[in-house]
Amino acid sequence: MSGHTLDRATIAADFPFLTRRIDGERVVYLDSANSSQKPRQVIDAMSSFAATSYAPINRSAYRMAAEATEAYEGARAKVARFINAPSADEVVFTKNATESLNLVAGSWGRANLRAGDVVVLTHMEHHANIVPWHQLAAERGIELRWIPLTPTGELDLTDLPRLLDGAKALSFTAMSNVLGTITPVAHLCRAAHDAGALAVVDACQYVPHNVTDVQAWDADLVAFSSHKMLGPTGIGVLWGRAELLDAMPPFLGGGNMISDVRLDGFTCAPVPAKFEAGTPPIIEAIGLGAAIDYLESFGMAEVRRHEAELTRYALDTLTERFGDDLTIHGPRNVEIRGGVLSFAFRDLHPHDVSQVLDERNVCVRAGHHCAKPLMRVLGVGATARASFYVYNDTADVDALADALDSATDIFGF
Ligand code: ALA
Repeated sequence: MSGHTLDRATIAADFPFLTRRIDGERVVYLDSANSSQKPRQVIDAMSSFAATSYAPINRSAYRMAAEATEAYEGARAKVARFINAPSADEVVFTKNATESLNLVAGSWGRANLRAGDVVVLTHMEHHANIVPWHQLAAERGIELRWIPLTPTGELDLTDLPRLLDGAKALSFTAMSNVLGTITPVAHLCRAAHDAGALAVVDACQYVPHNVTDVQAWDADLVAFSSHKMLGPTGIGVLWGRAELLDAMPPFLGGGNMISDVRLDGFTCAPVPAKFEAGTPPIIEAIGLGAAIDYLESFGMAEVRRHEAELTRYALDTLTERFGDDLTIHGPRNVEIRGGVLSFAFRDLHPHDVSQVLDERNVCVRAGHHCAKPLMRVLGVGATARASFYVYNDTADVDALADALDSATDIFGF
């Protein structure tokens, strides 16, 4: 299946957004950690399914409905294979990674945590892996403990045994959306289990860019989104170990998640339907399946190689061109860093930086990146952030550097 080499000349025709011109110039899209662009393979799969194959799933006996159900379940099987899940039944489709993490806190958390119970998080989490736990803390009186960071932006695990002592869950990111730091997932899962805690992995920045093996991690629950991995918005994934998902109560109630409803109560459908109340994102599942096919045509090891190389080039080029005028947060070692570069440029406000870059059609995110606690730890209110994906190349990094140079002219340094 895999085998293509990732270079823009070869894949340019796959990405219609690369033909977009603003003021007659190409767009340099460096905001994929926020949300990725879509290849025509995904766009075409969704539009052709919507045009001639669309039907509701799981409810009707006619052939089109059976075919649609098969296509939807086919997408689930692709997800399972992509992350090496033992069974497609362990793959739950949600709205996005945020909903997946809310499902974990709202279902597993409510069923298992009482006042005084401990959940361990890290200082590099984004809000989706913080706020649901804060909500549970307010509702149940659970205690939140935090793994701090080293000066280079890695997790400081010195105190891990003490933090995990008596904990019921460790919920952590596999890759920081701000620092780019790739965390030692398998090590953290093992440490959680040794302490008798559940290991929950927020993998929404990791799955789109790396080979993912939930069994090698020995994780318990793993969340990610389709829209960051070339797929559509509106669909995400929660993978969980079968016995764990079986024991968790439903999160949302309604059609599809029941096997029986009576005047005096209801009986849940088996997993995964138990967690998929209502009509699910059917067209989006087809799109996610197509995105996986597309990524697999390169192989995720090649995707990772491409991004590590680009990140190395970006770190070197930007440092060489701007020296102390540019502060890049996070580790310099690309072995433990994904293609995300949050930076401060001189004393310019990140919003001003992003506006100047936008004048040159260079799209970066500026702000707190939905990680306000981390901003406080870094001692900044916001950063500008460039992030890379399969369709970026060194010319995009050069365009970023040239656009930063133009900030120098505009602000008169
Ligand atoms: N989507 C958010 C980001 O930009 C969390 O990193």
